[in-house]
Amino acid sequence: MSEMDALRERCLQCSNCPLARTRNHVVFGVGPVPSKIVFVGEGPGQQEDLRGEPFVGAAGQLLDEMLSIIDLSRQNCYIANIVKCRPPQNRDPLPEEQDACIGYLNEQLRILQPKMIVCLGRIAAMRLIRPEFRITREHGQWSQKDGVFYTAIYHPSALLRDVSKRPETFADLLSIREKARTLKCI
Ligand code: URA
Repeated sequence: MSEMDALRERCLQCSNCPLARTRNHVVFGVGPVPSKIVFVGEGPGQQEDLRGEPFVGAAGQLLDEMLSIIDLSRQNCYIANIVKCRPPQNRDPLPEEQDACIGYLNEQLRILQPKMIVCLGRIAAMRLIRPEFRITREHGQWSQKDGVFYTAIYHPSALLRDVSKRPETFADLLSIREKARTLKCI
């Protein structure tokens, strides 16, 4: 069994936090291993919980369109979340739920060895880039940690709610495409 498959098996049995009691499925993550680009959302919604796959609801359809702007598809990037089980009523995952779950994502990233990580929304950005990250002010900016490039864009659900954020996000996606080309990720 591959290291990622072994990690998935362990994650599927997880009862580290109370979200385990209300989940239908653990949403571990999908994509090729290794992956040069990884997208990280906050946590599964209702559709994802029912299907066990990240970003399969309305936000997922928009994410697919965003990926195509970067010349990507689900076949050539990895998609995961900060927490693997659905928070009730789609509330933000609590800090203690994130703490209980983040080890799985850290292990995934160690195995995937990405060159670029794109945070989808403020929860992922605050967890992976900086706790005080401000998505409205800092989306589209690049930082580097341990040789990996990080950026954050608005969450697809935010773009569904507020279409006025879409032009800025289009510019961010072009910047991600440029960086991906430079780093030979696409
Ligand atoms: N929103 C997320 O943050 N992740 C998903 O997998 C789906 C919706």
